[in-house]
Amino acid sequence: MTMLFGKIVLVTGVASGIGARTAELAGQLGADVIGVDVREPATAAGSFVKADISTKAGVDDLIARLPHRIDALCNVAGLSGNTGAAATLAVNFFGLRALSEGLVPKLREGGAIVNLASIAGYGWRAHLNRAASIVGIEGFPDVAQVVCDHAVRNEEGYPVSKELLLLWTFRAAHQDLFKRRGIRVNAVSPGPVETPILKQFRTVLGDARVDSDIARVGRAGTAGDIAPVVLFLCSDGARWINGANVPVDGGLEASINAEMFGF
Ligand SMILES: NC(=O)c1ccc[n+]([C@@H]2O[C@H](COP(=O)([O-])OP(=O)(O)OC[C@H]3O[C@@H](n4cnc5c(N)ncnc54)[C@H](O)[C@@H]3O)[C@@H](O)[C@H]2O)c1
Repeated sequence: MTMLFGKIVLVTGVASGIGARTAELAGQLGADVIGVDVREPATAAGSFVKADISTKAGVDDLIARLPHRIDALCNVAGLSGNTGAAATLAVNFFGLRALSEGLVPKLREGGAIVNLASIAGYGWRAHLNRAASIVGIEGFPDVAQVVCDHAVRNEEGYPVSKELLLLWTFRAAHQDLFKRRGIRVNAVSPGPVETPILKQFRTVLGDARVDSDIARVGRAGTAGDIAPVVLFLCSDGARWINGANVPVDGGLEASINAEMFGF
């Protein structure tokens, strides 16, 4: 399998779950992999750069340590929300966006960015005004202040972070910064996936919500269900896919749509 032969693929969140499997599979598909995480991975696929993307300084330091040509960025690192809304928005949205924007000079023309969003971001349309207002804040702001100004409660931190990420993905796809270099920006939205974060979701969202999502589609996903889709979006086979959100959830979003819109 040579889908990513000769490509340099950067994967954040590589120490666990979906990031670990994405990095491993990218290597199997021929890519040179650079993994990033705030924690050391037990086994590293490719090279590893330890970095914390929750602050501007952490993101700037990471970008400075990366090579000058990268083909694809997989934004997988994320928090569950159990550390509060400000910490969650800092990693899941502002850190991710700062890394993506700051990396543009090192991303090759025609490269790709794939954002790990979530079915939890489904409410972006219902909360469009709040999402647009926060996404409209440029750079890496004082996130605690943003959370306060927009009255984001701690228990909303995770879904709000994914709503912001989806809205930004749709915008970034036609934002000049990326478009002039032909860089595609897409999102993948998993349903519940058996990784360490799922136990935290059970605490944050409650067992009932997680169990009902799993029951709708018959089983929870695995990291191996998500990684191939992320990497397809990095590949040249996805060259005409831009600004898309691909649900990888066993049919969960389709089922919710049917209920919401009554068909
Ligand atoms: N597992 C699920 O049910 C599920 C569902 C939908 C979306 N997602 C999303 O998929 C992505 C990956 O989740 P996962 O299931 O693999 O979770 P995970 O907890 O197994 O892995 C997340 C990784 O992100 C890293 N990370 C956290 N903060 C960081 C920081 N400041 N800097 C660098 N790295 C940091 C962690 O160290 C960890 O290795 C997340 O964005 C998550 O929101 C997961």
